[in-house]
Amino acid sequence: MNEIRIAVIGVGNCTNSLVQGTYYYKDLKVKEGEIVPGLMHPELGGYKVSDIKTVVAFDVDARKVGKDLSEAIWGKPNCTAKFYDVPFMGVKVLMGPVMDGVSEHLKHYVKVSDAKPIDDVNEVARIFKDAKVDVVVNNLPTASEQATWFYMEAALKAGCGIVNGIPVLVANNKDFAARAKAAKIPVVGDDYKSQLGGTVLDRDLLRLCIQRGVKISKSYQLNYGGNTDFWNLTDWNRGVTKHRSKKKGVDAVMTYDAPFSVNVSQLEVLDDDKICRIEIWGENFGGTPISLEAKLRVVDSCNSGGVLVDGIRCCKLALDRGIGGVLESASSYLSKSAPVQYPSEDEAREAMDEFIAGKRER
Ligand SMILES: NC(=O)c1ccc[n+]([C@@H]2O[C@H](COP(=O)([O-])OP(=O)(O)OC[C@H]3O[C@@H](n4cnc5c(N)ncnc54)[C@H](O)[C@@H]3O)[C@@H](O)[C@H]2O)c1
Repeated sequence: MNEIRIAVIGVGNCTNSLVQGTYYYKDLKVKEGEIVPGLMHPELGGYKVSDIKTVVAFDVDARKVGKDLSEAIWGKPNCTAKFYDVPFMGVKVLMGPVMDGVSEHLKHYVKVSDAKPIDDVNEVARIFKDAKVDVVVNNLPTASEQATWFYMEAALKAGCGIVNGIPVLVANNKDFAARAKAAKIPVVGDDYKSQLGGTVLDRDLLRLCIQRGVKISKSYQLNYGGNTDFWNLTDWNRGVTKHRSKKKGVDAVMTYDAPFSVNVSQLEVLDDDKICRIEIWGENFGGTPISLEAKLRVVDSCNSGGVLVDGIRCCKLALDRGIGGVLESASSYLSKSAPVQYPSEDEAREAMDEFIAGKRER
């Protein structure tokens, strides 16, 4: 089986955990039915996690640009957990155009490099082509609208599949989705639904309440962590797209309206740990009150790793099959703001597994 060659846009904590994971799982011998910690699909359509090879990386931070990717993934302000000592990769981090990737608020953490940016979309497309990139992974800061479209256009020009991890609406953009379909370019997006994060937990708890006859009166989801992504999200202008994305994921399981609030906070001492608190209120038998509280603690970026490696492998499968456009089943299972939302994780998972088995086109 061929390797899957990827380009990563943004060498932050999510890219760090992805790169570590591609090495960490390299000696994995998958036995039928065996559970492998951290992987939803130890093998996906014949591809292993270690088949993923990062061959191009773009960033704008002086502590990452020009460095080998193995070193750049530990450049500040990255702060995720180390679970593998990544060897020298021979992939130099390239300087991209800053555009709206770094807001004034984000400059508290990101130190923009003074290296000359590669700001011609045709040149970026040529870099992708020369490196034989199969899939481009968008790990830019949330709300990097212009920068995202710059790289998405380059991916389209170079014929690369796309995994969009952030809540800029790419898979949801009908025009772009149609162009990707015509060009046989698969797209998974938008915005990672973390492996076991606030969105899936909240969706399942709400669904359980509804299924067991509890009338939900209101609920909230509060997320806090110490990384740069949380800092970015505390800027309301940047965070609002994430809040909408989370609400879209939660709304998809609700069969009636009930007030829902979602918010974030940044506490630097938590580094890449994230805590999610969910509280749901409702009425039970005889109108008696019922409430439920949940607390989830997880290493935030590693929680995107298992989702990312599945999205990348689904894109490669679609490329192998000559299928382009939004991969609706995989997007629904792996993304918060998928254009097509399945009412439950079970149904989304079933649909994605049908796609992997070749029983469904997308
Ligand atoms: N579990 C998760 O961590 C999770 C879940 C869902 C979505 N996401 C999304 O994934 C994205 C990445 O998250 P992260 O924690 O790695 O963020 P991060 O802030 O650690 O990394 C972003 C990187 O992008 C770089 N960057 C900024 N502007 C750029 C530009 N114009 N060109 C190239 N690089 C640029 C920054 O220097 C930084 O290295 C975020 O948008 C986040 O919301 C993460």
